[in-house]
Amino acid sequence: MVNSTYGLDFGTYDLKIYDHKENKIWKFKNAIAVKAGKNILAVGDAAYAMREKTPDFIQVLFPMKSGVIADFELMQKLMQILSFTHGNRMTAGNYLIAVPSDITEVEKRAFVELMGYSNVKIQSAKIVERGIAAAIGMGISVLDEKGIFIVNLGGESCELSVLSQGGVVLTRRLKTGGVQMDKAIVNEVRHQQEFLIGQPTAEHIKMYFGMLDSTQKKEIMIAGRDLCSGLPKRELVSAAVVHSILKEFLDEYISAINVMLKRIPPDIRRQINRNGIFLCGGIANMAGVKTYFQEKLKCKILTTDQPELCVAKGLQEIIKNSKYKKMTYSMTDENYRWLK
Ligand SMILES: Nc1ncnc2c1ncn2[C@@H]1O[C@H](COP(=O)(O)OP(=O)(O)OP(=O)(O)O)[C@@H](O)[C@H]1O
Ligand SMILES: [Mg+2]
Repeated sequence: MVNSTYGLDFGTYDLKIYDHKENKIWKFKNAIAVKAGKNILAVGDAAYAMREKTPDFIQVLFPMKSGVIADFELMQKLMQILSFTHGNRMTAGNYLIAVPSDITEVEKRAFVELMGYSNVKIQSAKIVERGIAAAIGMGISVLDEKGIFIVNLGGESCELSVLSQGGVVLTRRLKTGGVQMDKAIVNEVRHQQEFLIGQPTAEHIKMYFGMLDSTQKKEIMIAGRDLCSGLPKRELVSAAVVHSILKEFLDEYISAINVMLKRIPPDIRRQINRNGIFLCGGIANMAGVKTYFQEKLKCKILTTDQPELCVAKGLQEIIKNSKYKKMTYSMTDENYRWLK
């Protein structure tokens, strides 16, 4: 059996796995359904689909929080099961893992050890900063460019990275993303209309309205429960309610970007002004988000198709192209210890 090399982007919402042998990127929900606290019923997309539809003794759990592993054991079980299901047979091989830059050494080590302790035999496990992988995945020549500002708007994090000639100059991770937007929409609809909707419905209306002021999409009829009577009913939810929530989150990201822009050394800043700011991550799919950032930040904003796959595509490129090898490192390297 020929071993493969895998690129792993552990997203809080979606796990993305690049399989070099198959030259394919797999995407699975980062969820696990557990019965009575111990028996695993389902993992990945099947577990996610059970959310809010199961009796109390079945729980749908999310082992990661804001981009880091929150429950190591659960995450390990999820990876073990995923490795042998969904048609994706992860065999012995080499692993390249994208990790957020601003996490502790312990959090970083957890990503590496996760593969080491699973039933998958690893030959080597290397890591690369997620901002670098994302930039490569967006087609930016990271080794030459003097000033890159990349914003990864994901499910539970918003990661800002400033890169220059292959290195990370500044980085910051805000611990909110699409999932917190969905929760805030649930709360707002409940508060304003005394109408209870589920998180999947909130996600659906977030995607439906986005940030666009459209004449066709002023309101949407959705199913939920009346808070007073407890009975199921259908009600209209307006775009204005959703926009006000999304705006709160996006404005927080925009002010974090502005703060970071002020801290960037002048020569790198000049290059960023010329290049613009790159947006990736699932939220970059949101209708109108690019224009909103453009208007508020008064600079060019660039996105791409399938922005949620940028990190995985970057891993794919790093694995394929030996010129990027120097951007990856192993936590057991002597050099790595000296660097720290
Ligand atoms: N068209 C869309 N409009 C609005 N939101 C969207 C759209 N498509 C995807 N999303 C949101 O993107 C988020 C997932 O993005 P992504 O896959 O980048 O997250 P992740 O990598 O798993 O999370 P993180 O990087 O924070 O750990 C979800 O909250 C999802 O609802
Ligand atoms: Mg992500």
